[in-house]
Amino acid sequence: MASPERALARVRLDAVRHNCDHLRLLLADGAQLCAVVKADGYGHGGAQCAKAAQDGGAAWIAVATAGEAAELRREGIEGRVLVMGALTAADTRTALDAEADLVVWDHRSLESLPTDGAHRPRVHVKLDTGMGRLGTKDPDEARALIDRADSAPGMELAGLMTHFATADEPGDLHFPAQLERFRAFVGDLGDRAEDLLVHAANSAATFRDRACHFDMVRCGVAIYGLDPFQEDPRPRGLDPALALESYVATVKRFAAGESAGYGRRWTATEPTLIATIPIGYGDGWRRALTNDCDVLVRGRRRPLVGAVSMDNVTVDLGPETDVQEGDPAVLIGAQGEERILCEEVAGRLGTINYEVVCGLGARVTRRHER
Ligand SMILES: Cc1ncc(COP(=O)(O)O)c(C=O)c1O
Repeated sequence: MASPERALARVRLDAVRHNCDHLRLLLADGAQLCAVVKADGYGHGGAQCAKAAQDGGAAWIAVATAGEAAELRREGIEGRVLVMGALTAADTRTALDAEADLVVWDHRSLESLPTDGAHRPRVHVKLDTGMGRLGTKDPDEARALIDRADSAPGMELAGLMTHFATADEPGDLHFPAQLERFRAFVGDLGDRAEDLLVHAANSAATFRDRACHFDMVRCGVAIYGLDPFQEDPRPRGLDPALALESYVATVKRFAAGESAGYGRRWTATEPTLIATIPIGYGDGWRRALTNDCDVLVRGRRRPLVGAVSMDNVTVDLGPETDVQEGDPAVLIGAQGEERILCEEVAGRLGTINYEVVCGLGARVTRRHER
């Protein structure tokens, strides 16, 4: 048996390719897929997932920061890259050096773009239709920015975008209201919109309403096979790409009354066997999972008992076990017939799957499998 890894995130790139292919089949006629790989590909590995997404037909790659765009270029990612976030002057130069497209929403940032460099800035104007974060809320200002970017020498007006706040809340009325505001704005532009790449949808919106696909959708969470609605991703045709694994370092017998871990947060009520698994909150396995999650060992769910510590967790194997030291342990993913979804872990933590995968630490080895 191969020597186990202490803390391993196994990332199946074929799942990323599949998810991109699958998303493309859902798209309205002519719409392209932009794969969002910010925050190191939501913890899955940015450049590896960008490449897999391109192999799965993604025409664009998006990131949040200029540094992420530069990193993708260093890793050999070619093609169109969109930096979606706010940029300082230094960030702007980094993004332009990486030949990335930028987003603008005010005259100050537009006018400060260098137009004498090696690469002419390509800009996407962002209208805030109700996210209340980046973007101008004023349609007149957005139109003025479009005019200015279109006419400024040494600059290219590339796109027009917005971002939805509640696409993942089926039945809410804010999403259709945002969509309507954006549609009206695009409609008022008339023929001018023809030359622009118009984009709005994140993963949830892509599933929710084809009317928001426009020329491109920007999907992040779904390309990793995670469900934007925090449900089981599989009925939606998504294949979770990431599994989080460790191994059984020791197995020890506990008598009734003996406790495991800091603070004695769990005490055996009867004789049992406890496995120690060397992964903890130092790896991103959050302490809030203390006494509140399962770990798969030998194809069965075993309750995590006691406090999650920085480097270890303990699981209860029961009074009789065939588990042996060295056995693989799965914290997210499948083993035998059993599976623990990232969405289950997020639900226990009262958070979303995005935060679980983004929270996996640098100490977790990422292994990318074709
Ligand atoms: C502007 C923008 N577009 C698209 C996305 C992708 O969102 P999701 O991961 O929900 O598909 C994000 C991510 O937060 C974003 O900030």
